[in-house]
Amino acid sequence: MKITRRTALKSSAAAAAALALRGARLFSQGSTSVDAHIDILPAEPIATISPEIYGHFIEQLGGVVYDGVWVGTDSKVANTGGVRQSFIDALKSIKAPLLRWPGGCFADSYDWRDGIGAPGSRPARTAFWSQQETNRYGLHEFMHTCRAIGCKPYLAADLRTLPARDFYQEIEYCNAPAGNVPSNSAAPAVPDTLAAQRAANGDREPFNVDLWGVGNESWGCGGNLDPEEYAAMFRRFTSWTPSYSRTPLRFVAVGGNGDDVDFTRRMFKALYSNSERRHIFGLSVHYYTSGSASEFAAGDALKFSNGEYYDLLTRGSITERIVLDHFGAINDTQQPNQPHVKLVFDEWGAWYGPGTRLAQNYNLSQQSTMRDALLTGITLDIFQRHADKVAAACVAQTINCLHSLVLAMGDQSCVTPTYHVFRMYMPHQGAQSVRTQFSAAGIPNPLANAPIPVGGNSYAGSIDASKILAGLSGSASISPSNPKLLTLTVVNPHLDKPMTTEIAVAGASIASASGTVLSEPDVHAHNDFAHPDAVKPSAATVGSTSGGRLTHTFPAASVTSLQITLA
Ligand code: AHR
Repeated sequence: MKITRRTALKSSAAAAAALALRGARLFSQGSTSVDAHIDILPAEPIATISPEIYGHFIEQLGGVVYDGVWVGTDSKVANTGGVRQSFIDALKSIKAPLLRWPGGCFADSYDWRDGIGAPGSRPARTAFWSQQETNRYGLHEFMHTCRAIGCKPYLAADLRTLPARDFYQEIEYCNAPAGNVPSNSAAPAVPDTLAAQRAANGDREPFNVDLWGVGNESWGCGGNLDPEEYAAMFRRFTSWTPSYSRTPLRFVAVGGNGDDVDFTRRMFKALYSNSERRHIFGLSVHYYTSGSASEFAAGDALKFSNGEYYDLLTRGSITERIVLDHFGAINDTQQPNQPHVKLVFDEWGAWYGPGTRLAQNYNLSQQSTMRDALLTGITLDIFQRHADKVAAACVAQTINCLHSLVLAMGDQSCVTPTYHVFRMYMPHQGAQSVRTQFSAAGIPNPLANAPIPVGGNSYAGSIDASKILAGLSGSASISPSNPKLLTLTVVNPHLDKPMTTEIAVAGASIASASGTVLSEPDVHAHNDFAHPDAVKPSAATVGSTSGGRLTHTFPAASVTSLQITLA
């Protein structure tokens, strides 16, 4: 069925009505002492959860690359080829599938040629974010970072300041095979000059980059383009690019900011006004949750009231509306001969004011608490519930910037509560997402009276206020290797209310369960260099099963991952 925004909303309204009924039925069927019900419906598959929704993002910005990722080959800090070992280890341990680079806004004034060749002869430039760029970390260093982690590179190309020729030559530099390249003409096969340059710079084998962002936030720092102008640029940049494999490159077009579906709709309309089949894999969408209800990029990462806690999580939950709205716009504008595009949610996370920066020059770095861990769980669960619409996503940003998983400075580093959630959610990667109904009373958002500010570096818009936070939310998936093994992840946002919940799997009996929980008595809890393990997950005290159902208590302000085995 073609899912439009209207049918998606209609079906979510129908689901809500069904949920109310189902909730009533379950409440009356089961024990009366429970606070909530979760109904997992294996017969209603959504889609395979792309591991790429667990993607990452690093930008040449503040302390992200220098000294976060890159400590240098002669550093005393443990490293592999100059890349911080603790960063590599952390990303490896969560099977990070994807790393996006070099930006962000930085990407749209970055010449990839500045970052190749002998380090000593690379130019120093004044770059985006009012910073001096040494170019010591460039394309090869990034590829080595990906190789060390075992993840795929996702490159964002400069659309604002470089011509299309530089884009396709960057593809050629990255992907042209070593040695003679077979020619589709009478000309003899000869080695490719850019591949030879790559080899001279240390990497004979191609990087095989298949995922390419064509610009970044082109409505803002990426050129202040209107959707029609961007569509024309996208067409020009992608109508021909070098290809060395049968598998087409995956191009990602820029979509609207936050819930700006008008941009998305106009962009697709303009893109398809020329009927040639387009090479487009995904639509980039960004949404940052400000730490303040009234201002973008404000509020404090560590000091917040209960009201601000609930407000941030409610505004974070708007991600679901954004996914539905942009996907609806894609469907509304879909042309029969064009590829079916999914969302690439390649920047998301909480964005606070500068109060908890690691250091003055670590621009946009911030601390990360249990509140951010809950936001992480809520967001990943949304992507999983919409595995049919979201192909990839990147948290912004992985280290020393905004919603980080790793904080690092000199020889010190620690992981954040958000890292633990990524780790706890790993069994979902590549699993089959199945419809799951949560019935729990919602929590009124105490601060939601006005439209919500959204933005990024260079744009501020707004989104209608959201008044209710789900009293319990999550997602469920079936293991790709064992149909009797389910993963259920659940966020309980109540600050002071453990939620005793009856969990049922339609058409099956629960035999046993085990799990992990992240929960602290104080949601301000966080890790820092002096206390790297202040927040860490523990084994969940799993409830009891009876009649094939599991009754489990989700602690207040917690994220839980349960592995459920069916009889
Ligand atoms: O992640 C920080 C910035 O936020 C990125 O550079 C930009 O794309 C967005 O505005």
